[in-house]
Amino acid sequence: MTPRSIHIETWGCQMNVADSERILALMARKNYRRAASEFDAQLIVLNTCHIREKAKHKVISRLGQLRKLKSQRPTLKIAVVGCVAQAEGKRLLKEAEGIDYLLGPAKIEQLPELVVGNEQGTALGFDQPLTVERDPTPSLSGPVSRYLNIMQGCNNYCTFCVVPFTRGPEKSQRPELIIEQAQKLVADGVKEITLLGQNVNSYGQDLSDRPTNNPFVSLLAEVCQIEGLERLRFTTSNPHDFSTDLIELFASEKKLGRHVHLPIQSGSDNILQAMKRKVNRRQIIEIVEALRLHGNDFAISSDIIVGFPGETDDDFAETLSIVEQIGFSFIFSFKYSPRPNTAARRFRQQVDDKIKSQRLTELQSLQKKITEQLNAR
Ligand code: 5AD
Ligand code: SF4
Repeated sequence: MTPRSIHIETWGCQMNVADSERILALMARKNYRRAASEFDAQLIVLNTCHIREKAKHKVISRLGQLRKLKSQRPTLKIAVVGCVAQAEGKRLLKEAEGIDYLLGPAKIEQLPELVVGNEQGTALGFDQPLTVERDPTPSLSGPVSRYLNIMQGCNNYCTFCVVPFTRGPEKSQRPELIIEQAQKLVADGVKEITLLGQNVNSYGQDLSDRPTNNPFVSLLAEVCQIEGLERLRFTTSNPHDFSTDLIELFASEKKLGRHVHLPIQSGSDNILQAMKRKVNRRQIIEIVEALRLHGNDFAISSDIIVGFPGETDDDFAETLSIVEQIGFSFIFSFKYSPRPNTAARRFRQQVDDKIKSQRLTELQSLQKKITEQLNAR
């Protein structure tokens, strides 16, 4: 069989990067190699992100660009996968032309079958059992550093966030399969592994026969035992699930990287409550202080939203002050945007876009100053 070629475009978070790696591995078994570019590909995959506004619009406009390619090469197939496919797939099929396959993030395993069967097809929903790739997968993140997806979905329903609707409820992989996979990666020369989940530190809460009280901490400790592994990271953590055991693990496990990405979203208790984050400002600061007991240089980064519905000047001042107090090594900051299905979309007191932009600029210039100070040190 002559090899065929696949081109994949990945938008959004590391979960999507890991999913793209998995798609490449699955398609490799069907004799698909990575194309040099979209112009050489027989299959183009758009792995989409739905987290912020205009997500569907971006996919439609990319499909518009690809339409020309498709009219020149009628055998070219296009797959739209990931979170936009899940959340807005049916509308996408109506509003855009040229989609051959449409698969939600929990259904990417079905892509090879559809492609090889040469049928058009749609696979959405969350009823698929979570599987971890057992064979080494081609890496998008370099040969020595790899992502390992240990869970899907989220049960938190923060009021701004679309993830529970696009990736479904939390579903954890069995620990023994994760260990087996990590061992294979290390045997293959990988030195650094990043365990991935949308809400990674609540790993294992859904496992029916939970191995220990704190399955995430047990898993980290076990992965650290693998000889030849030099560095273990995990992302993304939720402050709500950041347990004392997890903090203490940093004292005993030297392989754990001294950096945690800890999205706090806001520094105001009112807003944290309206977001349903289930932690307050004081608890966030306690986590940070406890982590820094394991080294002053412990780097903490974050995600922050400005202009959440009802955010006053005082609330925003609280965000600025927590950013200053904690001294993040970097932040990703966003203007709040209403997302389909989420509770905050219907909140009154939506903040004017001009104010959101002003606050974003102010936050970013504060962070820039902090980053410069940290770098100077
Ligand atoms: N509006 C703005 N930012 C959002 N994020 C998630 N949902 C929204 C939204 N509706 C941000 C959060 C999250 C990051 C991945 O994206 O800060 O941590
Ligand atoms: Fe979204 Fe909240 Fe779940 Fe994070 S914890 S994925 S912000 S719902």
